[in-house]
Amino acid sequence: FFIGAGAVHWARTLMSDVEIADERHPMAASPEVKAKVMADFAAGAAESGFGRRKLIRNTLFGALALVPLSGVMLLRDMGPLPERKLRTTLWAKGKLLINMNTHEPLRPEDVAVGSLTFAMPEGLSEHDHNFQVEIAKAALMIVRIQPEDIKDKRELEWSHEGIVAFSKICTHVGCPISLYEQQTHHVLCPCHQSTFDLSDGARVIFGPAGHALPQLRIGVNDKGFLEAHGDFDEPVGPAFWERG
Ligand code: FES
Repeated sequence: FFIGAGAVHWARTLMSDVEIADERHPMAASPEVKAKVMADFAAGAAESGFGRRKLIRNTLFGALALVPLSGVMLLRDMGPLPERKLRTTLWAKGKLLINMNTHEPLRPEDVAVGSLTFAMPEGLSEHDHNFQVEIAKAALMIVRIQPEDIKDKRELEWSHEGIVAFSKICTHVGCPISLYEQQTHHVLCPCHQSTFDLSDGARVIFGPAGHALPQLRIGVNDKGFLEAHGDFDEPVGPAFWERG
């Protein structure tokens, strides 16, 4: 109560009703002041003998020249440069799509309408020491959509009889996508609810993801197995660089 009463009293009686303007003075110092500062600086330098004491001066310059090295050491501590490792995955032309549950190569007839099938590239094994690193980039989800329901022309060209393959890694912060809505062909990321339309180039229709899911171009080899026609043509996962 007393704080409130004090505030009201301050506002009604103590605070001035008169507007007061304080004109801003020029920011730059006058030529006389500048000249005085320079003269004082020169006098101080002459008195200290800094110009004549070459050892002290050169040591100071040497120390300044070495300052950027500390930045180099800090950056080196962050590990080797990723180079192209973040832009490429294990997918390559002719690599078979391996079912992540059965570990068998996938045929078109294995991909049923209405379900999400997860695949990894041929040659990758769960026993490999780099499995987690590689699967985090190469994980694929495959669905079968009626070709006439596919709205995106490039998506249709990169599919095989309506079977489309997209990166399973959400482009927001990289969670694996796992929920599929058959009627709408929408997939939902469980982390922050980004939703992608798999019948329209996997574009984002809801949520914080900034980019569509990258599509993998697929086909069928002469033995009837689904195979990749190359790597993704853009980086998968979170967009820590802008892809335009
Ligand atoms: S990681 Fe998918 S929405 Fe955030």
